[in-house]
Amino acid sequence: MKIILKMAAMAFMAAFLIGTFTATEAMAGAEAKCKACHNFTAKKKVGPGLKGVFGREAGTADFKKYSASMKKGGWVWDEKNLRTFLTNTKKGIKTLTGDKKAKTKMKIKVKGDRLDEVIAFLKELK
Ligand code: HEC
Repeated sequence: MKIILKMAAMAFMAAFLIGTFTATEAMAGAEAKCKACHNFTAKKKVGPGLKGVFGREAGTADFKKYSASMKKGGWVWDEKNLRTFLTNTKKGIKTLTGDKKAKTKMKIKVKGDRLDEVIAFLKELK
């Protein structure tokens, strides 16, 4: 009985270690947070596909569910605008549109190193 328990414990440990390893691998970049809703290709998911988003005009991907504010757009996703938006999307959309009532369907906050990492990642998504 003791041996069986020991073996079960070892199997559990092994599964745990392998599980942790792949989880760490997949979560390597701050962009992992975006993956729940975005593909890093042109294909839409919960949000628009992010491929080529750097330098693209806001609200112009093949995505039908943009908020009215994003759809109206009028700015380009350069470094400054991405920072404004991603730091606090709820506030950012108001700054970007110049409309105090503007709303976005994406509600997140990314800060510090993670923000730098995410923006560097988006730049590479060509
Ligand atoms: C909970 C889901 C969700 C998460 C998590 C999320 N997004 Fe979004 N994202 C959306 C949705 C929905 C939109 C469309 C927003 C709108 O129309 O107001 C969007 C829009 C965008 C846009 C504008 C795209 C365009 O075509 O103009 C960018 C850039 C963006 N997201 C980047 C990111 C990044 C970077 C992350 C990770 C740090 C992220 N998103 C995480 C759902 C999400």
